Amino acid sequence: MILVTGATGNNGLEVLQRLASQNVQARAMVRDASGTRERDRNRAKAIADLGIEMVEADFDRPETLFSALAGVDRAFLVTNSTEQVEAQQLAFVEAAKQSGVKHIVKLSQFAANADSPVRFLRYHAAVESAIQATQMAYTFLRPNLFMQGLLNFRSLIVEQNTFYAAIGDAKVSVVDVRDIADVAVAALTEAGHEGKIYDLTGPQALTHTEMAEYLSTALKRQITFVDIPPEQMREAMVGFGMPAWQADGLIEDYAHYRRNEAAAIASGIEDATGKAPRQFKDFARDYATVFS
Ligand SMILES: NC(=O)c1ccc[n+]([C@@H]2O[C@H](COP(=O)([O-])OP(=O)(O)OC[C@H]3O[C@@H](n4cnc5c(N)ncnc54)[C@H](OP(=O)(O)O)[C@@H]3O)[C@@H](O)[C@H]2O)c1
Repeated sequence: MILVTGATGNNGLEVLQRLASQNVQARAMVRDASGTRERDRNRAKAIADLGIEMVEADFDRPETLFSALAGVDRAFLVTNSTEQVEAQQLAFVEAAKQSGVKHIVKLSQFAANADSPVRFLRYHAAVESAIQATQMAYTFLRPNLFMQGLLNFRSLIVEQNTFYAAIGDAKVSVVDVRDIADVAVAALTEAGHEGKIYDLTGPQALTHTEMAEYLSTALKRQITFVDIPPEQMREAMVGFGMPAWQADGLIEDYAHYRRNEAAAIASGIEDATGKAPRQFKDFARDYATVFS
C-alpha cells in the first residue's frame, strides 16, 4: 500500500491521478475529507472520483498518523512550508518508522542544504538527514521552482496581463509539477530508486521576462513581468494573509534565485523516468485556458 500525503496539494493530486490510472493500490491522506472549504470539497471530490481510499490525518496531531500509515510500505511525504513544517515532517518520519514503512519518497527542494541562508532549504535538509538516519529506504526529489507557481498569479495575469516577483533578470531552471509527479510515481512503484537524490529541473533556465514572452505567445496577448523590490513582495504576500515566517522564507528563496543559484540544469527527470522534462512552452500551452 502506498500512502500519499499532501494529497490535496499540487504534487499530491498529480501523483494520485497517475497511481489511479495505473491501478496501483494507494491511500490519500487528507486533513478534511468532507471538505468544509470549497477548495477542500473540490479536491476531496477529485480524489474520491479517482476511486482512491481517503484517510483523515493531521501532521500537527502525530497520533492521527498511525491509522493513515497502517499497512503502508511506501509513502510520499509532502506538506507546505509553514513554521511547523520541520516538526510535522519529523513526526511523520518517526511514525512511519514505527509503522514499518519500508520506503519514503520525500518532496524536498533544489539545493537543500543544512547551512543554507534559506530556511526552506535548511528544513528540507534536516528532514532528509532524519530519514537517512532510519533503516527505511529513501528517494529525495529536489525540484526547482515550479512552473505551476504562476497559477498563484492567475487573477493578476487574467485581469492585468502582469505578474510580479523580486527576482530581477536571474535565470531559474523552472520545472513542471507533472514531471515531478512522474518521478514520484516511478520511485513509489519501481525498484531502483532507493538511496537516490534526484535534482529536478526543466530543460531551460529562464528569466521571468522570458517566461512572460512564452506566456504571451501561448495566450495570444501581451503578458508582462514586473520586477519588484523584496520589501514590496513581502508586503503583498503578508497582505494576502500569508504568515510572516512563510513570507520571509519566500523572500530568502527569491534572494537565492536572484543570486543565480537555481539556474543549473539537472538530469534527474530523465534519470528517473527515461523521459525528457517538459519545456516552459509546453506548460504555457497546456495551461493557456487557465490564464484566459
Ligand atoms: N512552490 C515551489 O516552487 C516549490 C519548489 C521546490 C520545492 N517545493 C516544495 O514543495 C512542497 C509543497 O508542495 P505542493 O506545492 O505540492 O504543496 P501544496 O499544494 O502547498 O499542498 C500542501 C499539502 O499539504 C497538506 N497539509 C498542510 N498542512 C497539513 C497538516 N497539518 N496535516 C496534513 N496535511 C497538511 C495540505 O492539505 P490541505 O489541503 O488540508 O491544506 C496540502 O494537501 C514544499 O515542501 C516546498 O518546499 C516547492
